[in-house]
Amino acid sequence: MGKIISVCIAKGGVGKTTTSVNLAASLALAEKSTLLIDIDPYGSSAVAMGFTPDKIKAGISEIFNFSKAIEYTIHKTEIPFLDFVPANINSIQNDERFAKMTENRVVLKNALKDIRNKYDFIIIDCPPTLRGITLNALTASDTVLIPVKCGQFSLEAVDKLYDYINWVREVSNPYLDIEGILLTMYEKNSKVTEISERELRLKYDGYLFQNNIPVTNLLNEATFYGKPLCLYKINSEGSVAYINLSYEIITKNQELLNKSKE
Ligand SMILES: Nc1ncnc2c1ncn2[C@@H]1O[C@H](COP(=O)(O)OP(=O)(O)OP(=O)(O)O)[C@@H](O)[C@H]1O
Ligand SMILES: [Mg+2]
Repeated sequence: MGKIISVCIAKGGVGKTTTSVNLAASLALAEKSTLLIDIDPYGSSAVAMGFTPDKIKAGISEIFNFSKAIEYTIHKTEIPFLDFVPANINSIQNDERFAKMTENRVVLKNALKDIRNKYDFIIIDCPPTLRGITLNALTASDTVLIPVKCGQFSLEAVDKLYDYINWVREVSNPYLDIEGILLTMYEKNSKVTEISERELRLKYDGYLFQNNIPVTNLLNEATFYGKPLCLYKINSEGSVAYINLSYEIITKNQELLNKSKE
């Protein structure tokens, strides 16, 4: 059974999409069968994966309006072990209708039941909001990966998510756990990065990943070309950081991975 990880925090521009895309690609490079799901109505993962609208046959909309089974929304990617379900909610009108459809919090969980044993990992790129579609993702997930941008760091957003996870445990997913907190846009020898890390460690020390993601323009550049960084410049610092993170996650979940092979 694949492990389902939501990449989530109610703060914009902190590296959720960059992390979802690059982590999913790195897990797939390690030959772990991986599914990346974009549930953000803005569909940034599709851009970062090089999926223009003409290449999208179906996606999250069809899952939520029950018009297609999830199998029909799965797209093959350039990477052999990586599949992708895009978010195809592309007008404001659709957006509102879509918000209504997500009120049923178990839609995604039920859809994933049919396919989760085909994958080692399922990574969900969440929008910068809680409730609605994000509640669907957290109800379906085993764990949450929390990206925190160094510098523009907000302990309040982490606290809020932490409380929200506790609430989700009570109302719809008692087993929801935290995969880890990931420091993104990390600048060595920078005062703000140092302060961000110190503040986080005071309260959430046990949750921080050993690996963090350095600030690097190449991640932006790779997105521009519609590729995960490992397909653009595999030896770059950013690519290596995401590969190391994927190894950290694989190692942490080795027991689960072995079990699903039995
Ligand atoms: N490590 C990094 N170094 C430099 N730039 C980065 C890094 N990670 C992400 N970025 C850039 O920061 C911007 C925001 O990143 P991203 O889209 O991943 O954030 P997000 O949390 O998904 O945003 P949103 O909440 O809008 O969905 C993008 O332009 C991205 O290319
Ligand atoms: Mg995003």
